[in-house]
Amino acid sequence: MAEQNIPFHDLAKWATKAPEGEGLISTAFGDKVQKDLEFVDNTPGVPKPDPILVADTVTRKFGGVTAVDVQHFEIERHGITALIGPNGAGKTTFFNLMTGFDTPNSGTWQFDGHPLSSVSPEKVARMGMVRTFQLTKVMSRLTVLDNMLLGAPVQPGEGMLTSLFPVRWRKYEKQNIEKAESLLERFLLIKKKDDFAGSLSGGQRKLLEMARALMRDPQLVMLDEPMAGVNPALKQSLLDCIMSLREDGTTVLFVEHDMNMVRHIADWVTVMAEGKIVAEGQPKSVMNDQAVVDAYLGARANIDLGDIDNLEEIAPSAGTQAEGAEL
Ligand SMILES: Nc1ncnc2c1ncn2[C@@H]1O[C@H](COP(=O)(O)OP(=O)(O)OP(=O)(O)O)[C@@H](O)[C@H]1O
Ligand SMILES: [Mg+2]
Repeated sequence: MAEQNIPFHDLAKWATKAPEGEGLISTAFGDKVQKDLEFVDNTPGVPKPDPILVADTVTRKFGGVTAVDVQHFEIERHGITALIGPNGAGKTTFFNLMTGFDTPNSGTWQFDGHPLSSVSPEKVARMGMVRTFQLTKVMSRLTVLDNMLLGAPVQPGEGMLTSLFPVRWRKYEKQNIEKAESLLERFLLIKKKDDFAGSLSGGQRKLLEMARALMRDPQLVMLDEPMAGVNPALKQSLLDCIMSLREDGTTVLFVEHDMNMVRHIADWVTVMAEGKIVAEGQPKSVMNDQAVVDAYLGARANIDLGDIDNLEEIAPSAGTQAEGAEL
């Protein structure tokens, strides 16, 4: 069989599974991105071989506080990049700026080569960059399935004229429902599809928001503390879901305080403090760097997610305590 003729995207499906009980360890995209990043220096702001997002001199001030002051930052396509740092470092503000939910005082950034300054969040999402929120934003009075359908691209039937031709829009509706159901299956929410989203626990809302973000088949998904509030028993499934995103060719940037999640799934780690990128590199070298551990990670650095009992010991971040309920 001529392997060269198989599109790279299909090759990515040939994931190799670790022995029973262990997570997914290798994918075509995972192997490629790790190889590409192998020779990249561990220097803050270092250029990457194939960046999907590039930010330059992006600053955001709130009164006297400089929340974000990023000189140069690149995110490697098809990789899983972790953005870590202490509370108040500017991680969420950086997400807000990149996705059009907030406006910087200065700076430019490009997504897949397209400049994004002054582009609305809706248009950013249409271009293929979607994000989830630290404090989830699901519609409580809609069902889980309807929340998913809200994440779907605008259908032709939503225009006045085309709505007069039901045959056309019903086809799209059916496709969207099928897609929503398959994502809900993957995120272990299928049994809840007809329940109001308001009845879900904090952890389930996180899963729903992530599943909804995927309705648009994004190229880049930005997750703000995806593990926060999720029951330890489901954390491994969530890790597998995130790794399967990379397998499908999606680039992932995630903010997380759970250092073991970072250690287990990140191809690259970026450390932010006081608005600046202060360190970045291979997970092993960044997370074993004593200066980074002392200054930014502290007690969170050395708990092993491999030992499931440790999951409950990891302190939730200040920003996520408000979400309350466990899954
Ligand atoms: N809307 C706002 N108005 C005023 N100050 C803000 C606003 N949003 C963020 N800040 C401030 O900007 C700084 C960065 O906050 P941000 O929420 O981005 O941090 P973070 O790294 O996401 O923290 P955490 O890990 O706790 O979520 C903090 O000092 C915060 O108080
Ligand atoms: Mg935050």
